[in-house]
Amino acid sequence: LFPWAQIRLPTAVAPVRYDLTLHPNLTSMTFRGSVTISLQALQATWNIVLHSTGHNISRVTFMTAVSSQEKEVDVLEYPLHEQIAIVAPETLLEGHNYTLKIEYSANISSSSYGFYGISYRDESNEKKYFAATQFEPLAARSAFPCFDEPAFKATFVIRIKRDEQYTALSNMPKKSSVVLEDGLVQDEFFESVKMSTYLVAFIVGEMKNLSQDVNGTLVSIYAVPEKIGQVHHALETTVKLLDFYQNYFEIQYPLKKLDLVAIPDFEAGAMENWGLLTFREETLLYDGNTSSVADRKLVTKIIAHELAHQWFGNLVTMQWWNDLWLNEGFATFMEYFSLEKIFGELSSYEDFLDARFKTMRKDALNSSHPISSSSVQSSEQIEEMFDSLSYFKGASLLLMLKTYLSEDIFQHAIILYLHNHSYTSTHSDDLWDSFNEVSDLDIYLALKLWYQGQFLRERGMELSVQMFMDKMFPFYYSSLWHIPLSYVTDGKNYSKHRSVSLLDKKSGVINLTEEVQWIKVNTDMTGYYIVHYADDNWEALIKQLKTNPYVLSDKDRANLINNIFELAGLGKVSLQRAFDLIDYLRNETYTAPISEALFQTELIYNLLDKLGHMDLASRLVNKVFKLLQSQIQQQTWTDEGTPSTRELRSVLLDFACTHSLENCSAAALKLFNDWMASNGTQSLPTDVMATVFKAGAKTEGGWSFLLSKYVSLGSEAEKNKILEALASSEDVRKLYWLMKKSLDGDLIRTQKLSFIIRTVARHFPGHLLAWDFVKENWSKLVQKFHLGSYTIQSIVAGSTHLFSTKAHLSEVQAFFENQSEATFQLRCVQEALEVIQLNMQWVEKNLKTLTYWL
Ligand code: BES
Ligand code: ZN
Repeated sequence: LFPWAQIRLPTAVAPVRYDLTLHPNLTSMTFRGSVTISLQALQATWNIVLHSTGHNISRVTFMTAVSSQEKEVDVLEYPLHEQIAIVAPETLLEGHNYTLKIEYSANISSSSYGFYGISYRDESNEKKYFAATQFEPLAARSAFPCFDEPAFKATFVIRIKRDEQYTALSNMPKKSSVVLEDGLVQDEFFESVKMSTYLVAFIVGEMKNLSQDVNGTLVSIYAVPEKIGQVHHALETTVKLLDFYQNYFEIQYPLKKLDLVAIPDFEAGAMENWGLLTFREETLLYDGNTSSVADRKLVTKIIAHELAHQWFGNLVTMQWWNDLWLNEGFATFMEYFSLEKIFGELSSYEDFLDARFKTMRKDALNSSHPISSSSVQSSEQIEEMFDSLSYFKGASLLLMLKTYLSEDIFQHAIILYLHNHSYTSTHSDDLWDSFNEVSDLDIYLALKLWYQGQFLRERGMELSVQMFMDKMFPFYYSSLWHIPLSYVTDGKNYSKHRSVSLLDKKSGVINLTEEVQWIKVNTDMTGYYIVHYADDNWEALIKQLKTNPYVLSDKDRANLINNIFELAGLGKVSLQRAFDLIDYLRNETYTAPISEALFQTELIYNLLDKLGHMDLASRLVNKVFKLLQSQIQQQTWTDEGTPSTRELRSVLLDFACTHSLENCSAAALKLFNDWMASNGTQSLPTDVMATVFKAGAKTEGGWSFLLSKYVSLGSEAEKNKILEALASSEDVRKLYWLMKKSLDGDLIRTQKLSFIIRTVARHFPGHLLAWDFVKENWSKLVQKFHLGSYTIQSIVAGSTHLFSTKAHLSEVQAFFENQSEATFQLRCVQEALEVIQLNMQWVEKNLKTLTYWL
């Protein structure tokens, strides 16, 4: 009888050190392993319960520290909870140390989770093998028996046996490499720092690297040999970011090396394993000829994110997955913060702003959840924590906190938090405590640094930051939120200086000291809330935008566009007024407001289009086109300008080509034909490359040529642009074929499937097909990506979010109901149903006005 019935492990025994030896066979996809775990009993107990799944355990021995005599012991298995139990030959005594040794064999995983193997073809079409790990959240247990919960931190010694042509990497630097009698090589890595199991990693494959020393830490970027030419950008970026974080956190990165590896097949975007960051090739490699400015930003951001985890997540870890936001929210916040500080020219604030818009939209659904959930147990619940709310709502709240408390206090608090909890694990309260401590100590100092006047007086009255924090982060829906209301007005005293007051009741009054025409609340949208105004204030704001939009910041202008369209969707403002507001866009030159307006109007376009209101849809496009015509006409087919203007160009020309406006498609097609005539050797401007490819993919010959390039090219950046074009085809047979090929994973890697499904579903010809494909292949999809995972969330949302009829609602509902209770209860499923309902409501509320207005 298995002695333990819960999902969470008992706490009577804790691991201190793992000694792990692995011998993988990359062609037979199996491995043999042996793990010796040093344990400490924290309470007297008979049992040792730990995680293990898929292991063929051949021998388990047990040793007390004193007798040092090995005793073979029995092992019990409980597959449902992925646990095993060892009944010790004697009672384990509190405070005593023991050793457990487990020998086993297992399959190398063929999905991209756990210890997994992949094959790929190199330049000369030779088949190559590669093995890597992805343990977060719950897969370390499939590579070796272990206490696979984040709070059980221990040290790890790892040894890997490999064929000599391979390189083996792990978290720590290599200690020794010995040739064994059978010709194999055994690499041993130094004992790790104290860390969680989900951060353990190892890789075996043929790789090259480029390295640079940063104050005693050797930073290396690894890739398969033929892609070593694409690692320079990553190395340069990492070196700068490492330096930044070490200074900002006032804590040295503790390891002697830091490897970043581009893995040929990788499900997530990237993973922060301590000392061994793993990435998709497309998120780490940068190719000067084919990577766009958006690609460069992506690589920079992802490195910044995973590097931030070396402190937030690795050094200090959430105690349990319910507080995942402590890892992901912080890493996401730091990602934008560090980019703003050291790569300001990238204007990544535009992406953060956009992410906040998208997050509030999702958070407004009933299926939303607090960032720190109370009940997270099952593996699906754990996987589901990895959603955009943990990432972006977490990051948004930190931004709000930083803005309210000042950058100084914010930094001091997180330094304190990191220092106080290094090598241990925390929950949200530990973070608030650090903020309280700093706020109490530094409050007077900080007040001196703060702004003058009313702002200061109000702060003076709000000294209890603890209270504020609890209220600003209500983890339960019943709490009343405390909202830092910042605002600008057209008055002399306010427009230059930001004003803040705290709304801590259901309603409040702010007295302005002068007459003003308008007030804009939530300056630069640093606060996590949407603002609705009285009619006359909306009117005054609209008038201001029309006369001189630049009185307001680009963030504020984008924020107004976002708020009014979100409110119009709910019927709180008329859609007419929303369109009236964006009428000023004729004079808009900034990226953030234009992108947001295009996003909001495309959303409406997509709904109309899928409902067959072709005439309305095209009239809508014409309206928007009129607003942006002069900006579109000014664009050139080049890569010139700042990153922000380059992204604007990319958005505008794509909009124009998608809807066949101006002579955009003709220009794109000309570029495409020249490119095809040169057999793809002629270089194209990178920011509009996808647009050019899409134009080309419309013809039979163009599509086939693109496909032939897709399977033979070496730049993932270029391949992604081609894939987007292939998946935007109007030929449903081609779309179906793409999805199938990607599910097979041979010609098109499975890691691209969710992107393909989303792209196919966005356009009219594929939107029903994508959903059909998901239904038909649901069990395979779940098997490959597992229930609740980020990929599954993305597939469910991507294939359903444009449905807006009752028939589709029932259809989606019935489908998921028929799977299993666990499937139907998935948050992404509930969310999908809600989104369809909201779309239906939107149409019901707004179709008439829209028809009239258009
Ligand atoms: N820790 C995550 C990777 C991860 C994601 C593990 C989902 C398990 C499940 C990593 O730090 C991460 O957040 N990766 C992101 C990229 C990031 C820049 C947003 C990803 O993979 O999308
Ligand atoms: Zn992360």
